[in-house]
Amino acid sequence: MGFRAIPLLLPLLAVVSDALILLPPETPGVNDTALIIVQGADVYPEQYRALGLAIQSATSISLWVAIPEGFVGNYPNPVQLPGLATDALAQLADAGMPVDAPVFLSGHSLGGIVVQGYAEEQADTLAGLLIFGSYLTDRPLATFPMPVLHLVGTLDGGQARPTRMSETYSELVALQAEDDSANLLKPVILLEAVNHAHFFSGEIPPTVAANDILSELDADEARVLIGARCAAFLAMKSGGADEASRRLLVDDYSATGEYLAPLYDLQEQEADSDDRSPWAEKAQRYMFNVLDESVTVDIQSYHIASLSELEHEHNQLNITGDLTADLSIFSSVEFPLDPVDAAPGPHASSELAVKMVSQELLAAKLPVGQFGDVRSCADVNQMTLAAAVEAAPPAAFERYQRRGLPVTYLEDHQAGAGPLWVQERLRLHYNEDGLEIQSVAIKTAPDSIFYGGSNYCKLLSPTRALEYVLIDSLKGTQP
Ligand SMILES: *[C@@H]1O[C@H](CO)[C@@H](O)[C@H](O)[C@H]1NC(C)=O
Ligand SMILES: *[C@@H]1O[C@H](CO)[C@@H](O)[C@H](O)[C@H]1NC(C)=O
Repeated sequence: MGFRAIPLLLPLLAVVSDALILLPPETPGVNDTALIIVQGADVYPEQYRALGLAIQSATSISLWVAIPEGFVGNYPNPVQLPGLATDALAQLADAGMPVDAPVFLSGHSLGGIVVQGYAEEQADTLAGLLIFGSYLTDRPLATFPMPVLHLVGTLDGGQARPTRMSETYSELVALQAEDDSANLLKPVILLEAVNHAHFFSGEIPPTVAANDILSELDADEARVLIGARCAAFLAMKSGGADEASRRLLVDDYSATGEYLAPLYDLQEQEADSDDRSPWAEKAQRYMFNVLDESVTVDIQSYHIASLSELEHEHNQLNITGDLTADLSIFSSVEFPLDPVDAAPGPHASSELAVKMVSQELLAAKLPVGQFGDVRSCADVNQMTLAAAVEAAPPAAFERYQRRGLPVTYLEDHQAGAGPLWVQERLRLHYNEDGLEIQSVAIKTAPDSIFYGGSNYCKLLSPTRALEYVLIDSLKGTQP
């Protein structure tokens, strides 16, 4: 979808193109304001005309929209941006916009990446930044030197997917705790059922289509939702911050928080602030499958910072009575590599590695216990997906039931030895039929001299399961 690396060898353009789409306001003179829209990769500037018009019709101020044309290869880049933006302002002034009108810059997708450095440089002259289907990379929200709106759809299946946006929203929540105007001046809004392509009209380039989730919402409805948020944000600086605009942004702040709440909750369960892993404990209890509370195991579940440290941790099962035991288990959480913060694929944790003990060991030590079927890592993964489906926000739950592609669970792959188990990753194979999952496991006999009764699993993490429900299960499916 277009956060491809920016070509290093752009032709140096001596002549700045004059081409520009200019949308003057119907009635000038009411708090005149400029908005420059920078295109995404492979999307033609003309395709943002409908967005500009939608924002104009949602606002009561006189909004002058300029959409620069002429990026080489139809590909926004930071080399041409300053010239094109300066030219856009000159042309808006020629068309009658007062020269002291506040100026907002915006960008969609790769355009949202390209505008942020320039905006930072122009902090003294810009009134604010609007980022569509994209996010600040490497720039903390708290210190960004101007008001900035993040506006993204929940069905954006590329880089700006909800799991990535949850990080930016977390920054806002932290900021909001110090400054209660943060949700008005630095809003991070996820719009339900909006996707990446809803920010433009016309033909969807293959790079966008490859990742985007088709929506039940039609383009005009989506544009009305988008236009209203942009208008509310502009009003905070240009239109006297009316009550309706404030309320919309405050409501969006809550709605986005509600949408993301299950994700944050599952993240906490993978590893919480006390370095415990409630989810690993849940997995262990699921594995034990104790019936009728016939025995009680007190589990201490420790989250370990890295796999290499996890390698050196070993379970302890202490029998404390005929019906009771204490157990310590260890787990770690891994994440996909994304060094430039621009990977279009899954963003949630890639596995939960858990060192558990087997049901057989517990049964041997507490013979009075009653136990159900022996369970595999694959069985735990099924339980995890079911829990993620249940936890999903209502609209996402419904969508998944209706069109989500299935998950196939392959039999656990037994790793030859502890170090191999550590090295090998949970196998997640996304394809056009859905997702195939295979855990990497180690299971030793209770009486084995090497760590007898071990039951190690590379598990599907609950946040990755939820991300599948929200996004990846819907890829290629019809609304
Ligand atoms: C224009 O700005 C003034 C001053 O901030 C404000 O009182 C007024 O409501 C604004 N007008 C519109 C239409 O937003
Ligand atoms: C098991 O017992 C050992 C020795 O008393 C102790 O060090 C360890 O903390 C105990 N582990 C658990 C999980 O209770």
